Amino acid sequence: MAGKILRVALIGCGRIAAKHIMAITKKNSGLLLCAVADTAPGAFDKVFDSCKLSLKRKHQIKKTVKTYAGYHEMLDREKPDITSITAPSGLHYSIAKAAMLSGSHILLEKPMSMKASQARELRDISEQTNRRIAMGHIFRYFPVVGNLQKDVAAGRFGKISHGSVIVRWGHDQAYYGQASWRGTWKHDGGVLMNQCVHAIDLICWLMNGNAIAANAMISKRFHDMEAEDIALGTLKLDNGALCQIEGTTNSPPGDHEAAFYLLGEKGGFRMGIRRGRPYFDIRINGKKKNLEYFMKEIRSRGLSSLLSLTNPHAGIYADLRGAILNGKYPIADAKSGMMSVESVLALYLSAKEKKQITIPLAKDFSSQEMSEYSFGSMS
Ligand SMILES: NC(=O)c1ccc[n+]([C@@H]2O[C@H](COP(=O)([O-])OP(=O)(O)OC[C@H]3O[C@@H](n4cnc5c(N)ncnc54)[C@H](O)[C@@H]3O)[C@@H](O)[C@H]2O)c1
Repeated sequence: MAGKILRVALIGCGRIAAKHIMAITKKNSGLLLCAVADTAPGAFDKVFDSCKLSLKRKHQIKKTVKTYAGYHEMLDREKPDITSITAPSGLHYSIAKAAMLSGSHILLEKPMSMKASQARELRDISEQTNRRIAMGHIFRYFPVVGNLQKDVAAGRFGKISHGSVIVRWGHDQAYYGQASWRGTWKHDGGVLMNQCVHAIDLICWLMNGNAIAANAMISKRFHDMEAEDIALGTLKLDNGALCQIEGTTNSPPGDHEAAFYLLGEKGGFRMGIRRGRPYFDIRINGKKKNLEYFMKEIRSRGLSSLLSLTNPHAGIYADLRGAILNGKYPIADAKSGMMSVESVLALYLSAKEKKQITIPLAKDFSSQEMSEYSFGSMS
């Protein structure tokens, strides 16, 4: 079983597909890229050219990959073990459903869906068909994070007061002009649904709770798009802890930052990544514990885990493959996809209705319903 090669098919050959292709075709991944589908002619060739692989390796891979325009035909013919879904967010639900019903496990990029009921349905289909869903929630796969989560859950940091997440992931207007789906309420959402959804997933997971209430304000300050480019919000978790969220794409594009802070009775941590450089500051009872967690990481996941920052998707694929072969669940599973989408939708609804929203949502809601939201004057 350990040496079994799983066949992977990929749907959507755009920007993020390069990370997936590199992870799937990595040496000893135990995976084979068997097919790709994209409605845009030449999309696979373009993304494949951008992958940093030797010419010899590229030649080998090209020989085994079949290209399709339609994903239904690809699923029918190829019957892949895993389908990777890297198409625009508004298509995630229908493609994920079709892939699982055709018998495939899936690696689904974030966000899981744009509508609360669709995320729940995908979770249910995964349970009914015994197909695994691994979410593209890369932050859960960063070094040290998993050990911190286990220790918070085991009480090492004591009762949690609160957490905070900052996502300053600047994009210029040209980013939103790259494809017609970007920045639209139906297919993308704004900074909360696109850039923050996996950060919100991570902070709630680290805080060992599920969001039960949401408050938010959103605005659109620098970009010409449908959805928001700045959001400030709060979540209350079922363990009583509070969580603060700041997300924006208005910050300078060259200065990307995702920062996480947690405070417990016995200790806490700040960690994150800024301009591609990760940092940690972990303290328990006033003592710095960085080295302890660093060593723990090397013992539990090996030195290579520290290199996973260059392509965290490799960690997601290894985890999903292991989950499939060993009958387990991936680290970023269907629940993680569903809860994070519902939290984002509750934040949107709070901004729209100007009131606190409880989670699970009392009524179904989709990002598309935000098209009735008025930002007022942008000046
Ligand atoms: N986890 C992460 O860190 C991360 C990072 C970037 C993007 N993403 C997610 O990945 C997804 C794709 O983002 P992107 O930046 O690569 O977008 P993109 O626009 O660059 O690529 C999307 C591709 O999907 C193709 N496509 C559209 N409709 C299709 C269909 N019906 N069948 C097959 N292919 C179709 C397009 O032609 C395009 O090539 C989004 O959901 C985004 O949120 C995740």
